[in-house]
Amino acid sequence: MAILVTGGAGYIGSHIVDLLIRKGYETVVVDHLAAGHRQAVHPKAAFYEGDIRSQDFLNSVFCSERIEAVFHFAASSLVGASMKNPLNYYDNNVLGSLSLLKVLDAHKVKQLVFSSTAAVYGEAKSQPIREDAPLEPASPYGETKLAIERMLHWWAQASGARFVSLRYFNAAGAKASGEIGEDHQNETHLIPIILQAALGKRKSVSIFGDDYPTKDGTCIRDYIHVEDLAEAHLLALRYLEDGGESNVFNLGGSKGISVKEVIETAAEVTNRYFKVTIAPRRSGDPAELVASSEKARSLLKWKPQKTSIRQIVEDAWSWHRSHPDGYHKSKASLL
Ligand code: UFG
Repeated sequence: MAILVTGGAGYIGSHIVDLLIRKGYETVVVDHLAAGHRQAVHPKAAFYEGDIRSQDFLNSVFCSERIEAVFHFAASSLVGASMKNPLNYYDNNVLGSLSLLKVLDAHKVKQLVFSSTAAVYGEAKSQPIREDAPLEPASPYGETKLAIERMLHWWAQASGARFVSLRYFNAAGAKASGEIGEDHQNETHLIPIILQAALGKRKSVSIFGDDYPTKDGTCIRDYIHVEDLAEAHLLALRYLEDGGESNVFNLGGSKGISVKEVIETAAEVTNRYFKVTIAPRRSGDPAELVASSEKARSLLKWKPQKTSIRQIVEDAWSWHRSHPDGYHKSKASLL
């Protein structure tokens, strides 16, 4: 029996695929490669290129493989882009998930781990944020992920399926060996942007707002190493395999780090000069997002290992230095 990973060629998905293969799971990846990279997919995974919004495509995969559980990553995932193109987010995220669930029903697959986000909370009233905090997304991205969580709830209730929704805070870093990492077209994430500037690939780093009500005026985020995230997915799968009921977990390092602190850490780690400027706030950005991950620690027995921002930036830096142009133009050998 195999595990299906939708969006397994993406940044986070590819790290989970890598871990599943290393743990001996038969792994099947579907991805339409709009944002993902074929080279990011472990060679031992079966790969099908296609769009999950096509039930015909998904049906053909489920007919060819014996899928017993699904990790569902395939989605558009940028807060800023979703503010500009909300309908694209409903289309790709909500319709993609609807199509997937219909096919899961048709093939009687009843275990799913969903890639959700801290963006479902919006501007939380208190930090750290627990899973029972009010759900008030401040962006269409967060709104679509919440809509999918609600859809999963009713789907599970009607079909007898079980799911785990993992609400990530800020995923960052790369596999320590440097084989896979973060490579987005038109990068918008803070850490890769800083490292590209350190490599001379960008003129400068803009801080989006230094007038937030935070300790140094810049936004606070909770950065979580992508390898720790991958581990949590494996634990979520085991939780479902052991008969655990449907559940929602935050995944974060539970430490609030400001944009300025990330920049200072990256300057130390890279030991390179890059220019930093102050720019206006980016729409849709909450001032502070810090997780309480107590529930994942106690119920899933999750123990994140790489919790310091320095370790996260160091591993990201190894990847960026060996792949300055990402997957496509890299001279480094992959996997
Ligand atoms: N930032 C800058 N300059 C940049 C890029 C980002 O100042 O050039 C700031 C942002 O304003 C924000 C912080 O750095 O305050 C982090 O921004 P990212 O774009 O790296 O990440 P986000 O917090 O916007 O979003 C990420 C994921 C979402 C997820 C969210 C949950 O992309 O999918 O974390 O915390 F929902």
